[in-house]
Amino acid sequence: MNTTRLPAVAQRPARLPPRCRTLKRGERLLEPEVYLTRLDGRAAVVKDYSRYRHTPLAPLARVLVRREARALRRLAGWRHAPALLGRIAPLALAIEYVPGIPLSQAAADSPAPVFAQLRGAVARLHAAGITHNDLHPANVLIASGGTPVLIDFASSLRAPHWLRRSPLVRQLRRGDLANVLKMQARLTGIGPGRRQRATLAEPGWVRSIRDGWKRLYRRDRRRAQD
Ligand SMILES: Nc1ncnc2c1ncn2[C@@H]1O[C@H](COP(=O)(O)OP(=O)(O)OP(=O)(O)O)[C@@H](O)[C@H]1O
Ligand SMILES: [Mg+2]
Repeated sequence: MNTTRLPAVAQRPARLPPRCRTLKRGERLLEPEVYLTRLDGRAAVVKDYSRYRHTPLAPLARVLVRREARALRRLAGWRHAPALLGRIAPLALAIEYVPGIPLSQAAADSPAPVFAQLRGAVARLHAAGITHNDLHPANVLIASGGTPVLIDFASSLRAPHWLRRSPLVRQLRRGDLANVLKMQARLTGIGPGRRQRATLAEPGWVRSIRDGWKRLYRRDRRRAQD
């Protein structure tokens, strides 16, 4: 966790550091290889999109790396996000290793306090103008002492001040909160309270887009079956 400021990796290593253990294979489109390594004598996680080098998807991979690095840099010193150790290659970044377990495994032992902390962490993230946009149990680690740590900021967005009250950004914040409450309901059986349900209620324009989309989809399916 990011409580003490870790020094960035001294230099870009000439080549990527050796893999100690694979944490996640990059199998789907634009998924990175995620592995555990050691950098400057400490455990680190590398997110590596290098397989996209010299392919048409390289610019998109670079955007994901840059976006995650930028979000982690902004959150430096925050205990609910890992520290960025550095961009160690054009398409790879190194992140502090958080020794913890995924929320899906931890919630059974300590449900309510973990989710109260998680809601607080997401609220603070939003207050800083950042939305995570990909909150699910594999992207929340529970570190020692039961502290939830958010990882995987590749989809995150930081809205400029003038956009923070816009319907779109509000919708993204609502999406983050809805994901937290969904995880809470699924892992602990505790559903959202009345006030939370009111916060989550979608505005009319979102419902109309969703309903319109569903109608179109059903009509196309019926046509395909005829
Ligand atoms: N800082 C970290 N400390 C410990 N484990 C981590 C860390 N970062 C990632 N992991 C482990 O690696 C897994 C994959 O990492 P991550 O979620 O960042 O990648 P991803 O889901 O493939 O990324 P993306 O959504 O950007 O395609 C996580 O679910 C977690 O188990
Ligand atoms: Mg992930």
